[in-house]
Amino acid sequence: MSNSDTFPRMATRSTYLTDELNDYITSRFSSESEDLRTLNEEAIAAGIPAISISPEQTSFLQIMVRSIGARTILEIGSLAGYSAVVMARALPSGGMLYACEYEPVHADFIRRKTQELGLSNVINVLEGPALTTIADLLASSTVKFDLVFIDADKVNYSAYFDLVLPRLRIGGLIIGDNALAWGEVARSATTEFEPHNVKALDAFNTRMSSHPQIQSTLVPLGDGMVVGIKIA
Ligand SMILES: C[S@@+](CC[C@H](N)C(=O)[O-])C[C@H]1O[C@@H](n2cnc3c(N)ncnc32)[C@H](O)[C@@H]1O
Repeated sequence: MSNSDTFPRMATRSTYLTDELNDYITSRFSSESEDLRTLNEEAIAAGIPAISISPEQTSFLQIMVRSIGARTILEIGSLAGYSAVVMARALPSGGMLYACEYEPVHADFIRRKTQELGLSNVINVLEGPALTTIADLLASSTVKFDLVFIDADKVNYSAYFDLVLPRLRIGGLIIGDNALAWGEVARSATTEFEPHNVKALDAFNTRMSSHPQIQSTLVPLGDGMVVGIKIA
């Protein structure tokens, strides 16, 4: 009798996420609170687009922050502050999250909401184009990051990576959102949907997966997050 007769067939293929399974994950593992739902509703009412991370990504980000004992986070692309608030709430006392945001309306909204949520000592809004505001921050301080979350203009993901990598501590994380490029990433050579953004995300995934200082994986939550840990 062979092993295959004795044991049930083991699954060697992945289970692909369906809407039903995604809803299941969200219902069990989201850490979206009532005030975060309100934040998103108020943002929409203020004319800010509804393009924050999805609820099923919230717990994952908080686990990343807690698991490495992060104290200093850089977020690139903060919109209305949803993901910034999520991560800030997982920081220990004395922690700091720099929130880079280009649009003045969004930056004002974040400042108002962080004040309202008692996080104005934790979330520091860097208003302006992130390549400039980050370069200024690096030039004017010795700050080192424990975690960098990239969720701004897709064409600059690789430039953000190059800028922040020297100031990411060993064991620190870089996380890039939209790693699945709205479902288009596997056909980046032929896609007709936002081709320059899809190609940029594919290039970033390739950089994360092949860089000698980074070990990475792609977590298919929301629109996918590529997660890399600095190992050298
Ligand atoms: C997808 S949204 C971020 C969502 C946010 N991380 C969340 O989940 O709540 C992208 C944001 O990046 C901002 N952005 C785009 N280009 C930027 C740049 N060059 N510098 C800073 N922010 C930028 C946009 O204004 C927008 O608010």
